[in-house]
Amino acid sequence: MSMKILVINGPNLQLLGTRKPEIYGTVTLQDIEKGLEKMAGTLGMAISFFQSNHEGEIVDRIAAARTEQIDGIIINPAAYTHTSVAVRDALEAVEIPAVEVHLSNIHGREEFRRKSLTAAVCIGQISGFGPDGYQLALQALKSRLDRKSQKQT
Ligand code: DQA
Repeated sequence: MSMKILVINGPNLQLLGTRKPEIYGTVTLQDIEKGLEKMAGTLGMAISFFQSNHEGEIVDRIAAARTEQIDGIIINPAAYTHTSVAVRDALEAVEIPAVEVHLSNIHGREEFRRKSLTAAVCIGQISGFGPDGYQLALQALKSRLDRKSQKQT
């Protein structure tokens, strides 16, 4: 059975393309998802997408991922990265390997963006590579999951 990946994007990321292009570029979320879909197909993985501006909906989506037997999560929690104990706890609770992605380099911006509440419960964080970050995350998850399944057989 092919690996199932869920991509979650948090608040305001539906505005990509027009939102502060000097920071976030001009690529839209639809473009990013299309690129990931293509890459997942090449890698033989199944991929689904979720975007929400609401903290509770993101928490619910993460919890549902466990029931759906999702193998890996790519998440850009956006502003909730810096504020949400609830999103962090949800990621920790489901025990699904997750990679945190940020388009911008959060460590080179305002002080309040430098702290991530969610990164510690992810395998790792990719920050500053624009839309490429999502593809790097997919590659990283694939390597991790391949290694895990080799150990299990
Ligand atoms: C972001 C960085 C966050 O600080 C910000 O709130 C976002 C986007 C990024 O992808 O660079 O909404 O997660």
